Amino acid sequence: MSRKISRRVQRIESSATLKMADLAKKLRRKGEDVISLGVGEPDFDTPYNIKECSKQALDDGFVHYTDSKGIPELRELLSEKLSRDNGIKKKPSEIILTPGAKFAIFLACQTLLEDGDKALLFDPSWVSYKESVKMTGAEVEWCSMNEDLRPSVEEYKDILESENISIVVLNSPCNPTGQVYSEEEVRELVEIALDNDATVLSDEIYEKIVYNRDHYSPASDYQDVVTINGFSKTYSMTGWRLGYIVADEDLINQFIKIQQHSVSCPTSFAQKGALCALNDPVSDEVVSEMVERFRDRRDLLVEGLNSFSEVECVTPEGAFYAFPDVGRDSDMVAERLLRECHVVVTPGSAFGEDSRNNIRISYARSEERIKEALERMEEIFD
Ligand SMILES: Cc1ncc(COP(=O)(O)O)c(C=O)c1O
Repeated sequence: MSRKISRRVQRIESSATLKMADLAKKLRRKGEDVISLGVGEPDFDTPYNIKECSKQALDDGFVHYTDSKGIPELRELLSEKLSRDNGIKKKPSEIILTPGAKFAIFLACQTLLEDGDKALLFDPSWVSYKESVKMTGAEVEWCSMNEDLRPSVEEYKDILESENISIVVLNSPCNPTGQVYSEEEVRELVEIALDNDATVLSDEIYEKIVYNRDHYSPASDYQDVVTINGFSKTYSMTGWRLGYIVADEDLINQFIKIQQHSVSCPTSFAQKGALCALNDPVSDEVVSEMVERFRDRRDLLVEGLNSFSEVECVTPEGAFYAFPDVGRDSDMVAERLLRECHVVVTPGSAFGEDSRNNIRISYARSEERIKEALERMEEIFD
C-alpha cells in the first residue's frame, strides 16, 4: 500500500535522544550497567500527599471529562499562585490547564503561527520548540547565545528589526544551558520583541529549580506576554501530564478551541492531585529539599567536569542540566561515552547548530551515579 504522509509531518524530526536511548537499551539487554544522564526529568517520586489526593479522587469517582480549561478550583489556586509567586495578575478564566507544558507550547504555536511565518529561537533551545514551530508551517530564525550561554542581545535586536518575527520563545531557567536570566535581561528581551510586534512566549517550567538566583516572570510587568508552566519538574510529576498556559482572554478563547477538539481536557484525577501540590505546605518542603539535592549534585558534576583539561563547564544557575563545551564534535563524544563508558548524555547538536561542541548532562541522578559517571568519563576526556 502506498500511503501518503503529509509534508507537515515529514518535516518533523524524531527525538534526537531516541538513537542514544536505543543504543542504551541494546547495551542494557546485554547486561551492561548503563548510567543515563540524558533524561529530562527529576528522579524523585511525586510527593506522597499529591498522590493521596489523586487516589482519593479516583475512589470518589472523579473520572469523567472536566471543563476543557481544567477544573475551576485549580484555576482559582493557580491564579493566586501566579499573583503570589510571580506577580502575574490573571483571572482563573485566563488560564488553561493542558496535558503537559509541551501541549501548551503546541497550542500557542498552532494559534500564533502559520505557513511562511517566522519564530525566533535561541541556539541552543529545548528540542521541542523547533518542531512545534515547524508543525505550523512556520520557520525558525536562530539567535546565538554568547560564550557564557546567555542571549546575544545585539543579534536578537538585529533579527527582530530586520525580519518579520511573529513569536519569540524565552526560557529561563533554560534547558539545555541551565542559565537563569536576570530581570534586567528578560525585560530588555521582552521590550525589543514587543517594540517589533512579536508575541513573547515565556516558558517557566523550571522556575522553582534555581540556585541563589531569583526567577523573574515577564508577564508581571508586560500584560501581553504568554506564560507557560507546569507541574512536571517542580513536583516530579512528568508522567501526570499537567501544564498550563496563561494569557489574555482573547488568546485563551483561541487556544481553547484546539484543546477542545484534540484532547478535550486534562486528566481529571491528575488535576485533583495538582490541587494538593498548590495547597499543601508539605509540597513546598519537598520541593525545597529536592532543589538542595540538585544543588549538591550540580556542584559535584561541574567540579568533576572542569577537572578534565579539554572540558569547560559554565556553572548552571537553575534547572538540572549542565552544558559543557567538550572541545570537539559532540555527536561523536556522546556516542563514545555511550559505547565505551556506558554513560548516556545528549549531544548539543540536538539543541541547535551552534552547540556542536557541547553535550547536555542531566544531573537528575544520585550522587553515587554521578561520581561513577565522572570516573568512567576519564577514559574519554583525560
Ligand atoms: C524547557 C521545557 N519546556 C517544557 C517542557 C515540557 O514539560 P511537560 O512535561 O510539562 O510537557 C520541558 C520538558 O522537558 C522542558 O524542558
